[in-house]
Amino acid sequence: MTNIVAVYPGSFDPITLGHLDIMERGAQLFDRLVVAVLKNPNKTPLFSVEERVVLIQRSTAHLPNVDADSFSGLTVDYARRIDAKVLIRGLRVMSDFEAELQMAHTNKTLNDHIETLFLATRSDYSFLSSSVVKEVARFGGPVDHLVPAPVVTEIQQCFPTVPPVPPPTMHPPTPQQDP
Ligand code: PNS
Repeated sequence: MTNIVAVYPGSFDPITLGHLDIMERGAQLFDRLVVAVLKNPNKTPLFSVEERVVLIQRSTAHLPNVDADSFSGLTVDYARRIDAKVLIRGLRVMSDFEAELQMAHTNKTLNDHIETLFLATRSDYSFLSSSVVKEVARFGGPVDHLVPAPVVTEIQQCFPTVPPVPPPTMHPPTPQQDP
């Protein structure tokens, strides 16, 4: 089989170094890898779908066979539309597996011609999620070791700088009144 297209679907709010690791490895395995951001009206994201697509494009600029796109509806329907045969998902820890396996089985019932391929996330990133990144950034912590460079400044702009907590005020002891 030649010219195999794979889709890496997800929320990517925002793309992390763990996602990027999966993209770099997926790009080696397939002729074309399309990173597809789900338009999910049930979630309130930090970045709009368009912003997330741009952040993925900037973060994967060094990968010539990787494209970023967005979609709504079922992932398998999107995959069929772009003639993709494979869905890629990253697995960080065992607890990811149950939901991922359920999703893979469901997708197989919806389209038997599309395979799900799990890539084990590099262990350095097994703790990493977009939610963790947002939590750290929200409280003014550094995220440059967690997300690709194009995301760093964008996410820092989302949260106003949290002022440092002032030290507790020392009140002089109240003089004791003689009875
Ligand atoms: O990054 P996420 O949030 O874990 O990605 C989840 C995603 C987008 C891959 C999944 O929710 C999805 O495929 N949604 C589209 C709807 C669909 O196809 N559902 C059937 C599989 S249960």
